[in-house]
Amino acid sequence: MTIFLAVPKQSKLILNTLPKPFFALAPMDDVTDTVFRQVVHTNAPADLYFTEFVNVDGLQSPGRPKLLKKLRFAATEGPLIAQLWGLIPENFEKTASEIADGTFARELGLPSGINFKGVDLNMGCPAKSEVKNGTCSALMNNRPLAHEIIKATKRGAGKMPVSVKTRLGWSEIDYSWHEFLLGHNLDMLTIHGRTRREMSKVPAHWDAIGEIVKIRDKIAKDTLIIGNGDILTKQQGRKLAKEYDLDGIMIGRGLFENPFCLSEDGPRKWENYDVIGKIKLFREHVELFADTWREGERPLHTLNKFCKVYISGFDGAKEMREKLMNCQTITELYQHLQQ
Ligand SMILES: Cc1cc2nc3c(=O)[nH]c(=O)nc-3n(C[C@H](O)[C@H](O)[C@H](O)COP(=O)(O)O)c2cc1C
Repeated sequence: MTIFLAVPKQSKLILNTLPKPFFALAPMDDVTDTVFRQVVHTNAPADLYFTEFVNVDGLQSPGRPKLLKKLRFAATEGPLIAQLWGLIPENFEKTASEIADGTFARELGLPSGINFKGVDLNMGCPAKSEVKNGTCSALMNNRPLAHEIIKATKRGAGKMPVSVKTRLGWSEIDYSWHEFLLGHNLDMLTIHGRTRREMSKVPAHWDAIGEIVKIRDKIAKDTLIIGNGDILTKQQGRKLAKEYDLDGIMIGRGLFENPFCLSEDGPRKWENYDVIGKIKLFREHVELFADTWREGERPLHTLNKFCKVYISGFDGAKEMREKLMNCQTITELYQHLQQ
């Protein structure tokens, strides 16, 4: 007699290990690179991480080597999902397949056995440059293409989890979009609680995220839902997760106000950080940056946004920032930090 054992998808095994609610660090282009993710993971770790969004049409072109910096990660990082965007379904399939079979991890020089834990599709970015090409949030208005992209990505990803990150709708809240997405048997769906038209100008509509959970409960019980928008502390996130029965909470800009916001006592921890501690933290970030981006893949000025995060909240911080942000070389930056 043959016994068939139900083998859980690799995806489910990984996502099932997350606490409820789990906390994810939001993908932020030019912010959440491997360096910042490592800093966060060392000081106040998230349960799940995403790369910055990376264009599949570029990755499958001669421009690939230049884009690899977006996917770069370290073996010591927490569970990481690669976020993709683009236009051509075949490029999604090829990229997802190269993520799942470890091609990218090998190209990035990672030891065998270390890989991404999933593929996420960006269907929410509202930026004009992406939208005018029909990508990201513009896919809300082109569902046949969104369908082709999801199908192609799932084919490529095989057993690896496939998720989507999106918004509430184009110009109005449009639950038919979420119903459509949830009809694709996704492993996870992240909802940033604003429409594309709202950009970041209004507070996130958490009630609407709650409505999407109800739709999920009816048509796609196995799809995890992450809520996102304006969360600054874990306590706040936990309260909303409970109220709306969310599986996870994603935090992005909260990290700009408090790099420890993903720790339990985040607000107190950062309040109690003194000048020396803050400078030391920035120096650690700069050291890791210099060690990681040796070929100048990321210009020095990309450190300025982190300078604003760490060098703040003490007398003389503004003057110190001005000096640090005007440095032209890493050596000059170290000298100032030493002083
Ligand atoms: C500088 C910046 C870059 C971003 N880049 C991405 C991105 O690459 N992919 C993505 O899905 N969302 C991106 N977002 C949106 C965030 O992931 C998140 O949805 C949004 O900031 C709302 O969450 P928050 O209020 O916790 O910041 C970006 C946001 C910011 C501020």
